Amino acid sequence: VYMAQQAMIIRHAKQVLTSQTKVPLTGNEMEDGLLVIENGAVWIEEGRIVMVGPDTDVWNAYEASGKNGAKVIDASNQIVTPGLVDPHTHIVFAGSREEEFEMRLQGAAYMDIMNAGGGIHSTTRSTAAATEAELETAARERLDEFLRHGVTTIEAKSGYGLTLENERKQLRVAKTLDESHPIDIVSTFMGAHAIPLEYKENTDEFVRIIIEEMIPVVAKEGLAVFNDVFCEKGVFTPEQSKRILEAGKQYGLVPKIHADEIVSYGGAELAAEVGAISADHLLQISDEGIEQMAKAGVIGVLLPATAFFLMEPAAKARKMIERGVAVALSTDRNPGSSPTESMPFVMNLACLTMGMTPKEVISAATINAAFAIGQAEDVGSLEAGKKADVILWNAPNYTYLQYHVGVNMVDTVIKNGEIVVG
Ligand code: NIG
Ligand code: FE
Repeated sequence: VYMAQQAMIIRHAKQVLTSQTKVPLTGNEMEDGLLVIENGAVWIEEGRIVMVGPDTDVWNAYEASGKNGAKVIDASNQIVTPGLVDPHTHIVFAGSREEEFEMRLQGAAYMDIMNAGGGIHSTTRSTAAATEAELETAARERLDEFLRHGVTTIEAKSGYGLTLENERKQLRVAKTLDESHPIDIVSTFMGAHAIPLEYKENTDEFVRIIIEEMIPVVAKEGLAVFNDVFCEKGVFTPEQSKRILEAGKQYGLVPKIHADEIVSYGGAELAAEVGAISADHLLQISDEGIEQMAKAGVIGVLLPATAFFLMEPAAKARKMIERGVAVALSTDRNPGSSPTESMPFVMNLACLTMGMTPKEVISAATINAAFAIGQAEDVGSLEAGKKADVILWNAPNYTYLQYHVGVNMVDTVIKNGEIVVG
């Protein structure tokens, strides 16, 4: 939608951070695969990247091309990264849940609140009561916040509908926003986000409805690319999750899983078995689950803001990286367990609560995140031909980005070659 025609050259950046890979970065490559170009430049034409490299190389190539009139942006006080990619959000919903936050501060457990009819059920009620226009307005504000924090592509899940009509309503809103907001949105159907209260005693009947009545319609209408399940004790069992994910595959929906978040439940192993593109959360992943994900090439999407907000110990990122799981990072933006649009905050937490290195977190929030939603051919790195999604940060080097904690250092956001923030 946002097709900028003006050519642009970002010059003299203290550092340009990018990667060049056809596969998700794993092991040492999450560190070593992040390239640091000192005094770098980025040349953009027609919304796409033409060239990235040391400033003199890029400038000489531009001059030799015989072109002129490009807008020159001086980035001599800044560093430059690809637009951040958030591969796991629940942004289309109505209402908020700060009263549950207070209950949790008094000691109530997240799952107990949900099982008592609050939590996801509470947001499902407010979302059902909202019109499509109201949902769109609420989600658009969240997208604006994401954009101000350097995020240019996200995944967005349904799952606060839990009926075919209300799931479609959420997915249609995501589609409208994808078409009308600078941020690109890739949609996931998550009808299996909670068992509606009326099916509590007959969970298999709700599983049947998802498989027979929801998935075929959502797929036929082209409303989603992925199919996600909350595989958790007291929600969907691994056996039910498997049936839902296999059913989605028959309709072309690629599996994702909310896995091993609260208890170790075989979710990571299931992700490997069904060939999921990612397994997300993984706070309680088993050693066996780590092995199998590494072997099957399932990306581990880690959500350290969720662990932090639920006051749970962080995921074992070091162990996963050392054993060959490609790790990506995400906000998990939702009203219950992670009410933040700040990927930079998530990146700070990834260092401070999971021991990831500053380079690893940039790989995890850009190229690996792009792979986790099947978008790496277009976004996630600054390479010729990719979308010109570029962030200029008020920071002298990439470590400073993690060290200057809890503030927004985004100066300029360029989406498809157009300045949308700054
Ligand atoms: O990813 N774990 C399940 N789903 C969301 C939370 C949704 C909510 O509390 O509204 C999550 O954490
Ligand atoms: Fe989630």
